[in-house]
Amino acid sequence: MKVKRAAKAGFCFGVKRALDMAERTAETSHAVSLGPLIHNQQVVKRLAERGIQVVEDLDELTSRQALIIRSHGVAPLVYQKAEIKGIQVVDATCPFVQKAQRLAAESSKMGQQVIVMGDKLHPEVQGILGWAGEEAIPIQTVEEAKELPFYPHLAVLAQTTQLAENFAGIVEELKSHTEDLIVHNTICNATAERQKAARELAETVDIMVVVGGRNSANTRKLASICAERTKTYLIETAEELEDVWFKEAKIAGLTAGASTPDWIIEEVYKKMTEMNEQEMDMSAWVDSCPELHQGTRVTGTVVKIT
Ligand code: F3S
Repeated sequence: MKVKRAAKAGFCFGVKRALDMAERTAETSHAVSLGPLIHNQQVVKRLAERGIQVVEDLDELTSRQALIIRSHGVAPLVYQKAEIKGIQVVDATCPFVQKAQRLAAESSKMGQQVIVMGDKLHPEVQGILGWAGEEAIPIQTVEEAKELPFYPHLAVLAQTTQLAENFAGIVEELKSHTEDLIVHNTICNATAERQKAARELAETVDIMVVVGGRNSANTRKLASICAERTKTYLIETAEELEDVWFKEAKIAGLTAGASTPDWIIEEVYKKMTEMNEQEMDMSAWVDSCPELHQGTRVTGTVVKIT
């Protein structure tokens, strides 16, 4: 079995920048992030070992601590509250997310009805909505866009990790809800590049392994793109790999979400390659254990996503 990696995979610029900023802050201050810095349990654990604490509410912070704003960004209210409490802010909001926040705020000031396409429960969308003001509307699907009334002026933008095709569908629908539609395509290239590389690889392999946090939206999206093309497994660490998945595979593909560090990708790659070396012994063992065949060969779906 050959193991091929996606041309683009793993940490994006914004996540890498946020982690570097957090680690530098932790060298001199008591660094705290509001929610996990990234959607990857292994990285969060490693950061905790370096003294970076996670809180869920600003009220838990004191003026002796430094607040790291995650790459997802936050609503303006968070900056205001931190200032009132005298808390030092280290702003690691990804510059591409900042751009979406700025466009949302400007559109709202210009009297346009702001529509934010994305997962309304995702912190990035909640932050952008905060910049766009109370009137802003989050939507996720074309069906939701169809429900919208007519507005004299509309501005639409997207959560940075959304699929370009889905955004295009929503833009198309919104054209019939206004005579003045401003489209801000705020989808990040890093996401599109990783999705394109995953799509291309998944079309040429027998099995795909997607590495990343199960709570990471962009990792789950990569997994669903791959699952439309081949048998796909979503895992968080190399320990989850099972030899039996690869029994009939000649070529396996490997990709990773934007919040997956290189060291985890390397561990997975190494283990997949080592499995490959043991292939002869393993197949003899697997053939003697028919129960191992059950429930693992599912084509066209993500087999292990929960
Ligand atoms: Fe930024 Fe794009 Fe990553 S918006 S956080 S570089 S996925």
